[in-house]
Amino acid sequence: MTDVDNQRALELGSNIKLIGREDINDLEAILSISNTDVHAVAHEVRSTYDTLFTWDYEKGARPRLTRLYEKAKTAQWNGETDLPWDTPVDQEAVVVANAMNQGGLNAGMDLSGTPFARWGDKEWIEFGVESQNWTLSQFLHGEQGALLCTARIVETVPWIDAKYYAATQVMDEARHVEVFAKYLDTKLSGHYPINAHLRTLLDDIIADERWDMTYLGMQIMVEGLALAAFGFIHMLTTEPLLKQLLQYVMADEARHVAFGVLSLQDWYQQLGAAEIRERQEFAFEAAVRMRDRFLQQEVFDRMGLPVKDSIELVLQAPDRVAFQALLFSKIVPNCKKLGLLDAGDGWLRTKFTELGCIQFEDMPDTAEEVLAYGP
Ligand SMILES: [Fe+2]
Ligand SMILES: [Fe+2]
Repeated sequence: MTDVDNQRALELGSNIKLIGREDINDLEAILSISNTDVHAVAHEVRSTYDTLFTWDYEKGARPRLTRLYEKAKTAQWNGETDLPWDTPVDQEAVVVANAMNQGGLNAGMDLSGTPFARWGDKEWIEFGVESQNWTLSQFLHGEQGALLCTARIVETVPWIDAKYYAATQVMDEARHVEVFAKYLDTKLSGHYPINAHLRTLLDDIIADERWDMTYLGMQIMVEGLALAAFGFIHMLTTEPLLKQLLQYVMADEARHVAFGVLSLQDWYQQLGAAEIRERQEFAFEAAVRMRDRFLQQEVFDRMGLPVKDSIELVLQAPDRVAFQALLFSKIVPNCKKLGLLDAGDGWLRTKFTELGCIQFEDMPDTAEEVLAYGP
């Protein structure tokens, strides 16, 4: 591109401006973002925002939020006492059992001439163990992101019923951080630092001063993806403690995503076209960051494999495209419900089509799912 083209592209909210690369699938660019300061114990994100008091304590202005709040109060559980922590977990045996559910340790692929050609069962099991350590570590870091974002929402959202609900979610997220940390420490065999793409996304969400962007980034995008990913692992895993842990966490997460949909629905209706476009762009950027994080580049690095070659191969695995799309199965209908998919010129619809996940648009949205049963 010429300088003039480049400038124009930047002004139009192009891929370069939003995600730092023109081609969504540019693997080189994706892998150029990697972990830094992996040994630091703290990570600081600066942000300026308004903390809002409300003097309107009247309950009932948003009855669906009130219902959600009542559900949350009775759905609390105790991570220490409600889970069977005495279940023995043989991580290698779990890796083998899970793999047998998915076509064997190497998913039945022909790997001759690839970095994996010389691998035997020992290496595949080690890879499965690392992969599980990595996956649960990223869930743990994401849960902390949810804890911090929701604590922020208590301060910034203008309505009392949303502050009440958010307070229950803060407790939920503390419990989620606690149980994932305990599972990693007592049942698995190592932690990974936060993936660079996930950290970029969480930093962007936290740095934004607008209260509804915290919701969009966390409740709609990060938690929408988490709900789908937890569901996928819950379905696949043969390990009973993790299965039960995920079942509890997913019941909470569904409420959290519903909280996002119920809070943003009315709010977006009174935003102007330019403001909606900013939200569409934010949703797209978050979607790409989350897809990039699932390449688990740090695992290949730790296994001493050429990262780019290995990932190129993984992307060709049977079902990989379907898996990547499935991660967005909650996000797409929820964005549609919020009016983000088709607002303006349908910009986000085009982007989700490019990402290969538009096929989920007519699935039920999460608010509808959560409020369909119970009081
Ligand atoms: Fe959570
Ligand atoms: Fe959550």
